[in-house]
Amino acid sequence: MPYKAPRGTQDILPQDQPYWNYVKQTAIRICHLYGYQPLDIPIFEETSLFVRSVGETTDIVEKEMYTFEDKGGVSLTLRPEFTAGVVRAYIEHGMYVWPQPVRLYSIGPAFRYERPQAGRFRQFHQINVEAIGEQDPALDFEVMSLAWQFYEELGFKGLSFQLNSTGCPKCRPGYVRVLKEYYQDHIDQICDDCRRRLQRNPLRLLDCKQERCQPVIMNAPKIKEYLCDECTEHFQTLLGYIDSIGWPYALNHRLVRGLDYYTKTVFEIWAEGIGAQNAVCGGGRYDGLAEELGGPPTPGVGFAAGIERIVMTMKYQGIEVPPLESPNVFVAYTGDEVKREAIKLAHTLRTNHIGVLCALGNRSLKSQMKRANKSGVLFTLILGENELARDVVTVRDMRNSQQMEVKRGELVDWLRKALQNY
Ligand code: HAM
Repeated sequence: MPYKAPRGTQDILPQDQPYWNYVKQTAIRICHLYGYQPLDIPIFEETSLFVRSVGETTDIVEKEMYTFEDKGGVSLTLRPEFTAGVVRAYIEHGMYVWPQPVRLYSIGPAFRYERPQAGRFRQFHQINVEAIGEQDPALDFEVMSLAWQFYEELGFKGLSFQLNSTGCPKCRPGYVRVLKEYYQDHIDQICDDCRRRLQRNPLRLLDCKQERCQPVIMNAPKIKEYLCDECTEHFQTLLGYIDSIGWPYALNHRLVRGLDYYTKTVFEIWAEGIGAQNAVCGGGRYDGLAEELGGPPTPGVGFAAGIERIVMTMKYQGIEVPPLESPNVFVAYTGDEVKREAIKLAHTLRTNHIGVLCALGNRSLKSQMKRANKSGVLFTLILGENELARDVVTVRDMRNSQQMEVKRGELVDWLRKALQNY
């Protein structure tokens, strides 16, 4: 059997790269607009970092981590997400003495051993944004509006902004107690997974997709009514900021997210038309995480956007992207003698920053011209013995097939001008 890319991974082929490039460049531009700085972190970390931050009873830690022992016997895990690594780096490099909040973004692959389906991969890519060191709900608003502006500038339509507060260690346990009691009373109506969740990770009960659990979820107690004063005020202030700019959102009491570090605000952005895996972005506040990882108590808030789902949505919505830069000039030649001069000419143009595709082998001029046509260049340069003898190059304008001769010594300037005015 020939080899295939591992299940749940994919090659991103040249024809898809313009989308990827456009998405990443747009993200970088908007991050810089909001004052976020780039940070790269390792693709793998010590396993316990993820266990402590994402949470021992989450799906990610229980079932989805790519964990291995290295040759030194250390247990390492391919990052299933960025937040844990970013907060680890924040503590390790003493960023708490920098002006707060520290605004950081990262782009790269993450790994989860999930069941692959449309929009769900085992290797996927995230644009991750974190703002660490500030409690103000204005910072929640800032990262959300960064996300919102990102999708708007990509040209997305029909986005749904889902918002909730999951409380804090002061008020959440009270809510979880009430939720568990309610579920105990409805134990006969729920699926097997939910019976397990009831013991291991009760908040995730609200996230169940099984038909039979929906009526139970619908009538479940809502966390909003159990938030402490501090969490309520934080949430109300945030909603006030969002209302003041008038962008639409849905309060979703079922939105609990799959990572344990969240406190207070959580949010997701859903896109239309890409099936069940429609969350193109998810995030929230994590005020206890830095302390949990051994740093000083430091609040933080952020989100991650999945590039695969973004590209899927762009294709579905017919959003066009600019092509990647490619050579505008093709160099063709006739005969072996001339080939060396043609190669030299291509080299000269490239070192003068004019992109060139040069013919190869000993194909006929006709087949070289065909190749030039297909490659989408603007000009084809033809070099034959005749041209060589007179120290000129024949230049063919591919738009109108008109040809003219240009002196070899003047060619770089001529092309520069012609390409500029094209
Ligand atoms: P998350 O919701 O697990 O959050 O992932 C964020 C986004 O990554 C999802 O909305 C989705 O677009 C994409 N994604 C996740 N898993 C997959 C997958 N298997 N295949 C394709 N795309 C996927 C986090 O990762 C948090 N660290 C976000 C965060 C940052 N919260 C605070 N700061």
